[in-house]
Amino acid sequence: MTRLAIIGTGYVGLTTGVCFAHLGHDVVCADIDADKVARLCRGEVSIVEHRLDELLAEGLRAGNLRFVVGAASAVLDAEIVFLCVPTPQGEDGSADLSYVEAASAEIAKALAYEAIVVNKSTVPVGSTRVVERVLQRPDVRVVSNPEFLREGSAVDDFMKPDRVVVGCEDRAAAIAVAALYDSIRPQVIITDPASAETIKYAANAFLATKLSFVNAIAAICEGVGADVDDVMVGIGYDKRIGSEFLRPGPGWGGSCFGKDSRALLKIAHGSGYQFDLLAGVIAVNEEQFDRVADKIRMAAGGSLQNATVAVWGLTFKARTDDLRDSPSLSIIKRLLAAGANVRAYDPTVAAIKAGVPAEVSIHNDAVAATTGADVLAVLTEWDDFRWVAPGDVAAVMKGRKVVDGRNLLDRATWQHAGFTHVGIGR
Ligand SMILES: NC(=O)c1ccc[n+]([C@@H]2O[C@H](COP(=O)([O-])OP(=O)(O)OC[C@H]3O[C@@H](n4cnc5c(N)ncnc54)[C@H](O)[C@@H]3O)[C@@H](O)[C@H]2O)c1
Repeated sequence: MTRLAIIGTGYVGLTTGVCFAHLGHDVVCADIDADKVARLCRGEVSIVEHRLDELLAEGLRAGNLRFVVGAASAVLDAEIVFLCVPTPQGEDGSADLSYVEAASAEIAKALAYEAIVVNKSTVPVGSTRVVERVLQRPDVRVVSNPEFLREGSAVDDFMKPDRVVVGCEDRAAAIAVAALYDSIRPQVIITDPASAETIKYAANAFLATKLSFVNAIAAICEGVGADVDDVMVGIGYDKRIGSEFLRPGPGWGGSCFGKDSRALLKIAHGSGYQFDLLAGVIAVNEEQFDRVADKIRMAAGGSLQNATVAVWGLTFKARTDDLRDSPSLSIIKRLLAAGANVRAYDPTVAAIKAGVPAEVSIHNDAVAATTGADVLAVLTEWDDFRWVAPGDVAAVMKGRKVVDGRNLLDRATWQHAGFTHVGIGR
């Protein structure tokens, strides 16, 4: 059992905290948001993430998981401290390290002698040095341990990671951090801080590249009369390619891919390399938002002026309530700019939240959202949408066009109910 402090209780920090408590460590989590801390102390999880509530309740009951306001009070007895604070995109595209620096400054004096501080936030190469400089504590070791969890399956990803990456010049500190994961027996890669930090950016950039590649092939499929779903099955059987992450869609998004790809562009530029490939990946993604908005325009008869579009799905992916950098919102903004009225439904979003334009009307039922709509656009891959009966939609919707940005609905069933179904890449 190791005494841990987790700074920041967002998607990464809360998952890390409850999972380490589940593995038997003694965990104190800190946040600057006093309301969030109060809710967590009562066992209430404010984000949608499978099993977080169950593990939170377990830790609170067992007494080895606590929540406090403010980082300094959390670290007093901690042997290892995890920084899980935001690293948003700065104005020039690079990662904004101000939260990491602020949290480091807060804990500098409070840290126990010879504590280890771990950067779990996604940070550019050289950030362990930044933390060391802010801490001014020669007795403290700073370790990079990037996080690879996916929202929607965060707990499972933490408990069954593909790998754990630990970067530190000090072997003993690296081993102490790696040992925290012993009971889940992961593949551990111990390396230097620069390599650990680069692994995280390279992984996200590669995944974004895969998705942009699939969407580019989907565009070609539409031109030549091929079916992208079959094409992806065909290439996915090649072991060198693999079948994961080959689904076409409305463009990629979420809190990490955009900011991390742009941060890697800046890192590359700073290192003297012009990363044109990654710039192209980002450009293809912006084009994909335009392409899907254009499919919706065409489905509305060529103009979106005063057209009503029903949108199913607002979050950046299914099984999360996270709206940050959601492709759905990027497309909705294009629809509104072209004069459309947008009615939306999402299983986890009941009201206008940060990032959702105020002009959007949000409905609490998938069918109700389609009332009077000219076009239905499916923009998030929630399983729930598959099971909506097209006949129920036909009874309230004005038009008979579906733009399925996730190739989610069963085309034959919808066609049978009188709809024209337009997918991606087929
Ligand atoms: N969300 C993901 O899927 C994911 C996956 C891997 C890595 N990451 C990286 O992990 C980091 C955190 O991401 P997130 O999605 O969990 O962010 P988040 O915005 O959900 O949570 C961050 C939390 O930190 C708190 N915070 C900020 N400053 C603080 C301080 N000084 N002391 C205590 N708490 C403080 C905020 O109040 C917030 O609750 C980012 O660098 C991100 O790139 C995220």
